[in-house]
Amino acid sequence: MGKLIIDGGNRIGGEVRVGGAKNSVLPILAATVLNGGINVVHDIPKLLDVDIMEKILTALGCSVKRENGTIVVDSKDLTEHEIPEELVRQMRSSIIFLGAMLSRFGKVKVSYPGGCEIGPRPIDLHLKSLREMGAKIEEKHGFLNCEATKLRGCDIQLDFPSVGATENIMLAGVFAEGTTIIRNAAREPEIIDLENFLNAMGARVSGAGTATIRVEGVEKLYDVEHNIIPDRIVASTYLVATAITKGEIVLKNVIHEHLQSILYKLRESGCIIQTYNHSLKLIAPKKIKAIESIRTLPYPGYPTDMQAQMMTLMTLSDGITIITENIFENRYKHANELVRMGANIKVDGRIAVVKGVPKLSGATVMAHDLRGGAALILAGLAAEGSTIIENIKHIERGYENIDGILSLLGAKIKKM
Ligand code: UD1
Repeated sequence: MGKLIIDGGNRIGGEVRVGGAKNSVLPILAATVLNGGINVVHDIPKLLDVDIMEKILTALGCSVKRENGTIVVDSKDLTEHEIPEELVRQMRSSIIFLGAMLSRFGKVKVSYPGGCEIGPRPIDLHLKSLREMGAKIEEKHGFLNCEATKLRGCDIQLDFPSVGATENIMLAGVFAEGTTIIRNAAREPEIIDLENFLNAMGARVSGAGTATIRVEGVEKLYDVEHNIIPDRIVASTYLVATAITKGEIVLKNVIHEHLQSILYKLRESGCIIQTYNHSLKLIAPKKIKAIESIRTLPYPGYPTDMQAQMMTLMTLSDGITIITENIFENRYKHANELVRMGANIKVDGRIAVVKGVPKLSGATVMAHDLRGGAALILAGLAAEGSTIIENIKHIERGYENIDGILSLLGAKIKKM
């Protein structure tokens, strides 16, 4: 189990380029099974989750080559239809292969993904929608056996704009007979990236980024080359690292529109933010102002994936912040760890009340999940003394070389 050791109190400053978005890469890599051809994808971050996707693709019979942030997947010889159980256990998002494999292969077997660190995370919306498209799905002995000779396009109304379910249906619709319509679809930027990737290989998808997506089934797809969009959550995490250490940073390779809800909150906390073409500059205030209320919502609302990091920032504010977590239950495990570092936080169900304190102090804390782990790094950067973060494998699932990058930006951080 790796650890990070941080000596707090150093300003974050300088310039950093933001890499490709994990949440775009995962569905796009699943989509590479569709064309039975060559897929070249650039700006692939070095992450544990990407390693797992690579292993799944290889297990399915694809040939995969990865070098310097570019991955080449040849899915011509896809022969297997079973996703190895141990890989599904390591990454819940592997459920995204359901739609892609049903579309290309007509069958797929995957173990039922259990709960995870941030709550039970059901997949009922995925299964219901695929069944509406004609898939036969048997849930037996902890496995999902799915089959469909030919999927049919249909009109699907999602009860909740689930990101994963929207992506799974898009992938399933690519070769389906007729048109698939997804209503109350998720509107995240990563859904638009998936639409662009699919269309570049010859699919006919429209409406991504709005609440209604249409997928017209096609007969054939082609080879494709694609660049992944920058990671809005990684970008935002570096912005908070700068804000909490009273620093100044320039981020390169960002899409401002994707960051709007977060920039809005950072400005409310007193940060000065200047935006340029594909970059932005943040100058931290002398004292962080309390943001009255932070409510996580589906995009374009404030993202649940930035709830933990903003909570850390608010622990050092000049007042009281009320956070409401509307997307995942049980996503406050970082709060207890922050309290160990001197924060004043009370959690009651989906609500957390954060009262700013003058300082945090270094302690040994545990990362329970990806974003919560990142929040602890941010706390460590600002805390007095030394912080040890245990169980950093969660953080490595979503942040490429975070210790190396923060070191270059002025932090005293090392991995053990
Ligand atoms: C994706 C992101 C994750 C982010 C989340 C919400 C990826 C790889 N992961 O996860 O980083 O935190 O969106 O922005 O893109 N739900 C159901 N039934 C379902 C599916 C979802 O009830 O069948 C519920 C979930 O329990 C959760 C909510 O819907 O409460 C949102 O989940 P969803 O949007 O599906 O998140 P993921 O796609 O898993």
